[in-house]
Amino acid sequence: KRGPKVKIYYGRKKIDAYEGETVGAALCAAGINVFTRSVKYHRPRGMFCAIGKCSSCMMRVDGVPNVMTCVIPVRDGMRVEPQNCFPSASHDLYSIIDRLGFKFPAGFYYRLITRPRSLSALYLKLIRPLTGMGKFPTANRGFKPMTKSEQRETEVAVVGAGPAGLSAAIHAARLGCRVTLIDENPMLGGQLIKQTHMFFGSKEYFAGVRGIRISEKLAEEVKQHENIEALLNTSVVGLYEGNVLGIVQGNKFATMRAKKVIVSTGAYEKTLLFNNNDLPGVMGAGGVQTLMNVFGIKPGNEALMVGAGNVGLIISYQLLQAGVKVKGIVEAVPRIGGYFVHAAKIRRMGVPIYVSHTIKRTWGRRRVEGATIVQLDDRWKEVEGTEKDIKCDLICISVGLKPTYEFLYQAGCKMKFISELGGHVPLRTKNMETSVKGVYIPGDTGGIEEADTAMVGGKIAGISAALSLGYGDKEAEEFREKAIMELEDLRSGPTSARIRSGIEKALIEEG
Ligand code: FES
Repeated sequence: KRGPKVKIYYGRKKIDAYEGETVGAALCAAGINVFTRSVKYHRPRGMFCAIGKCSSCMMRVDGVPNVMTCVIPVRDGMRVEPQNCFPSASHDLYSIIDRLGFKFPAGFYYRLITRPRSLSALYLKLIRPLTGMGKFPTANRGFKPMTKSEQRETEVAVVGAGPAGLSAAIHAARLGCRVTLIDENPMLGGQLIKQTHMFFGSKEYFAGVRGIRISEKLAEEVKQHENIEALLNTSVVGLYEGNVLGIVQGNKFATMRAKKVIVSTGAYEKTLLFNNNDLPGVMGAGGVQTLMNVFGIKPGNEALMVGAGNVGLIISYQLLQAGVKVKGIVEAVPRIGGYFVHAAKIRRMGVPIYVSHTIKRTWGRRRVEGATIVQLDDRWKEVEGTEKDIKCDLICISVGLKPTYEFLYQAGCKMKFISELGGHVPLRTKNMETSVKGVYIPGDTGGIEEADTAMVGGKIAGISAALSLGYGDKEAEEFREKAIMELEDLRSGPTSARIRSGIEKALIEEG
């Protein structure tokens, strides 16, 4: 259900938006695809991940530069402007630099233009204003400087309110802890809020229930606990020694000292290397789901899906339901990765699935207008002469996720690259505690898995944090042991062999 109508301004253009919507969603709904331009080559930039993890959508909002518009909710009268362009993002005169890109290769630095010496000062004067990300904030556009730092305390800080974070907060609160749950998005639920399909798995972990309903149930329970404080639209900008978090909420900065920190920041979407992979219209699978399922916005008219795993197949079906023509699904490996039932449904709807194929390039001036796909041989080399052009305005990249790990490196956790778990992950005990005492990592942060394993992981982390603070009793300990066994059970099938091998490499002993 949409909130009340508001007006926002994109440059001089007045745009209708609805309360609860993000700025990025409102721009997409108004048909604006080029939000801003890149710093060096002035290439067009639009929405990619829609969850504040890629920086593709950064714009100037109410005089403040570099605001991630995909997570900032609209407000009546808000002023949104593109950055790094003149006179507008869709017609940027500086985009000539992209055409002359061969003159400015990677590593080019304008201060190295020193010949002829007499002109170097002039070069600097002309080039310097073109550098840097956006312009300094201006007071006359409603910008308010950051207020003085505030110091806060909590017993358990949970960073990230997806399935793992919600479950951790609930279980720590049930045992009596004072919990602060922090998320940069305007809603609780993380990626669950965009998942309209029914979950597989065990009944205890919501099999047969839609992701969005699971997030509502968990959010409802969070609200019932008076000892959980939920801070939404709030970013955690650092995790420092002694479990001190730096947090930013609007124009307020605060430090929060937590006795225990549960990092459930989830994952990033992976992307692929191909020519023009940064054009607006190339989107991550999660970004496409956010536009369609959270905000009711059609992300394009003709789509090409890259990746035939379950996510790629399910989103292709959802795109078809939303009236988008899916022109094909490409999959690099010689077989379809998702369930047969999903693939059969998609094929019956007339969508071709090209296995042993990849995307070679996209084309288009300001947004995607088409793509070229190509066949791969058994050594992953492109087979010459097999290129096929597909006209489309949306390319949905569904090639998996990788854990978000920045905080954990910053906190000094011992990390390891484990490909079975999706990338760099922290070493952890079976109670989800990292090598840094008092820092726990349930969910995709510790390795890419499913929502049910994230919820069980959250349960283990929440109970462990509470037990280490002196809450709970023998019964809570037994409950945690049972949860550890449940997690092993969920990972016991033949399809989880890779995960089991990854977890084995990441486990460390208590103490
Ligand atoms: S950060 Fe906004 S689209 Fe990725």
